Amino acid sequence: MQRGKFITIEGGEGVGKSTNIAYVKSLLEEQGIDCIVTREPGGTPLAEEIRDVLLKNREERVVSETELLLMFAARAQHLYQLILPAINEGKWVISDRFTDATYAYQSGGRGVSADKVALLEKFVQKDFKPNITLLLDAPVEVGMTRARERGKLDRFEEERSAFFNKVRKNYLERAKAEPERFKIIDATQSLEQVQNNIRQVLTLT
Ligand code: TMP
Repeated sequence: MQRGKFITIEGGEGVGKSTNIAYVKSLLEEQGIDCIVTREPGGTPLAEEIRDVLLKNREERVVSETELLLMFAARAQHLYQLILPAINEGKWVISDRFTDATYAYQSGGRGVSADKVALLEKFVQKDFKPNITLLLDAPVEVGMTRARERGKLDRFEEERSAFFNKVRKNYLERAKAEPERFKIIDATQSLEQVQNNIRQVLTLT
């Protein structure tokens, strides 16, 4: 059986990932592709527990290395328990975030060295990477306004715009460095334009 593919959706807060993930799933299903949607941190019961630990607002300062290790702990569980078995069964997996988010948030945002992220990436994933990554890009203020409208902010959403500007910059640099894998989608366009864009890039690849 042919192995499935791994598609990831990345971007800052409030760029419309959920709506567009549902759209990607419907596009694939139209083509008769069997696919599942999952998310990071999370995706399995244990990884979702780690997500709760990561997102909870708390008094104690969370050390960046702790945050980084927890992201990869959740990822190891997700990868071996859910993503790889599904791909090996021929399913396509669409994930709301993956390791590019760790480079963007923990390295770009928090300032942990990219070498440390790369070390853990190799340790957990060996050479496994997404086949396609859609980067939904919008200026930080646009996304933050949408995120605030959703209600109570989690520990990441509580960060200031300087943090999210570093996250965005890191995502865009990574996208430039790997143009084959990354497709940048301008998330400030109307939903219809965003989805036309997504359809184009997914039929081209
Ligand atoms: P979500 O709000 O998109 O579901 O993601 C939860 C938060 O976790 C989001 O603020 C980004 C953050 N995050 C990281 O900091 N590093 C990571 O590796 C991942 C996957 C998410």
